[in-house]
Amino acid sequence: MIMAMAPLIYHTPVMLAEVVEALKVSPGGRYVDATVGTGGHTQAILEGCFPSGTVLGIDLDPHALCVAGERLRPYGSCLNLVRDNFARIEEICLQYGFRPVDGVLFDLGMSSLQLEEGRRGFSFQDDEPLDMRFDPSQGLTAAHIVNEYPEERLAALLRRYGEERQSRRIARLVVAHRPVTTTGQLAKLVSQAGFFGRQRIHPATRTFQALRIAVNGELENLSRALEQSLSLLSPEGRLVVVSYHSLEDRIVKEFIRREVKGCLCPPGTPVCLCGHEPTLRLVFKGIVTPAEAERSGNPRSRSARMRVVERL
Ligand SMILES: C[S@@+](CC[C@H](N)C(=O)[O-])C[C@H]1O[C@@H](n2cnc3c(N)ncnc32)[C@H](O)[C@@H]1O
Repeated sequence: MIMAMAPLIYHTPVMLAEVVEALKVSPGGRYVDATVGTGGHTQAILEGCFPSGTVLGIDLDPHALCVAGERLRPYGSCLNLVRDNFARIEEICLQYGFRPVDGVLFDLGMSSLQLEEGRRGFSFQDDEPLDMRFDPSQGLTAAHIVNEYPEERLAALLRRYGEERQSRRIARLVVAHRPVTTTGQLAKLVSQAGFFGRQRIHPATRTFQALRIAVNGELENLSRALEQSLSLLSPEGRLVVVSYHSLEDRIVKEFIRREVKGCLCPPGTPVCLCGHEPTLRLVFKGIVTPAEAERSGNPRSRSARMRVVERL
């Protein structure tokens, strides 16, 4: 059942026009929005393919789906919302008889709803329980990582997923102050852990990014979903990925680089042994970033990079 909620926080969709154009949204088309959030991109896609087109929308977050479901109710049966992990995108589409598709969108990371609705543990501006789960029914939380992982493992995680240079010092301080139960407490500890110089971002930004990635298995999910998307796209179908930090963009870039190439044998191999054929073609070489007006109007868009490819 879809419940009405107030106040509603809508995430401002990033590069909205660019995404719709990149997907080549057209009447009667069939699209997967793998990260519905509060439905901003989904709505624009529906507007472009309505009334004969259809969208399958996926999100892990039941609250986001509730907000999106309410907002997109006027599109009726043109939209199917599914609470699931996009790491299972192939199976989900199979289950709903939704393939081949004309486009798949991934708008990665978290939404403003998750950041601002409170008590989700994504924000260090407020003092919230250390949670950070997109899917509130999953077991692993940020509190578990922060309070249970051995110091070495915690430091490695901050280094790997946050590219945090002060990872060892932060891990040492956190372990010394256990239990650390709130975002405010953690942010304060991180700020005390070392010299962060005059950087533009809050000292805790990298730590929070690392924990969020680890809690939600974000990089693994992305790798799995990209591979599976290939089998969903019809010829000339578009894959559009908007990412917000270098770790996810690297995964997207490497995936695309591999799939636009033919043979993947090591250089110097006299005869191709891998038999790999290109599956994608680049629509844009490199990344597309938001226009200056969007960057200044929506600070969260500043780190966005979009990559667009087409199925051969
Ligand atoms: C940046 S927001 C998307 C915002 C959306 N485009 C809009 O216009 O409102 C990213 C969304 O992806 C969801 N998400 C992240 N990882 C996911 C996964 N593995 N499977 C499904 N949804 C995921 C998050 O819960 C979040 O709602």
